[in-house]
Amino acid sequence: MEDGEKMVQLSFLPASSEEGPVREAGREEKDLPPGEVEPDLGLASLKEACLRCQACGLRRGAKQVVFGAGSPQAAIMLVGEGPGRQEDELGEPFVGAAGQLLDKVFAALKFRREELYITNIVKCRPPGNRLPTPREVRACRPYLQGQIRLIKPRIIVCLGALAGQNLIGPQLRITRHRGRWVQRGEIMLLPTFHPAALLRDPGRKRPFWEDFKAVARAYEELK
Ligand code: URA
Repeated sequence: MEDGEKMVQLSFLPASSEEGPVREAGREEKDLPPGEVEPDLGLASLKEACLRCQACGLRRGAKQVVFGAGSPQAAIMLVGEGPGRQEDELGEPFVGAAGQLLDKVFAALKFRREELYITNIVKCRPPGNRLPTPREVRACRPYLQGQIRLIKPRIIVCLGALAGQNLIGPQLRITRHRGRWVQRGEIMLLPTFHPAALLRDPGRKRPFWEDFKAVARAYEELK
């Protein structure tokens, strides 16, 4: 953290972006326990594995798996919480009201969705839009880890506390830490509010906009 505060790092983001989920040597795919995926899958195979996944109970209540969408070469990845009702219907992340708000920000910054990669901490809709449980988050973790390892984004925008706590550190408080960049290896992470929070509290729109302008500046510097 910029002001020297120490945040405990979860093992979520590998220290090296080359590392993947660990698997015992010599074990066949069929022997993988639920929630573990082959470490050397490509993005399409990772998606197939995710679509077949039954590692937690969320898949039973969801219409479909919302793996993620965008460019496999994206420099910017956005990570939300989990699919809502419309995302579950359409199979795409952030297509409901929160997504429309994001689209306005993208348009203002001249970002095209196809050049970004958008996904969530959990890939199946939690019933009634409740927060995913720690067990559900753990079960889904190999898919996000795989997406990060394969896409190699340079910037990850953590949309809301759940994404920030899982990708940066469990003590993250979104009101306190939003807008503060964190470096993990090659990746710069920026926690900001979840766009749905802006719909409930319009006072959060300004800081959210400032955070996205900072993302656009950082992106320009990468080019
Ligand atoms: N909220 C999220 O966190 N993710 C989505 O994809 C949609 C709404």
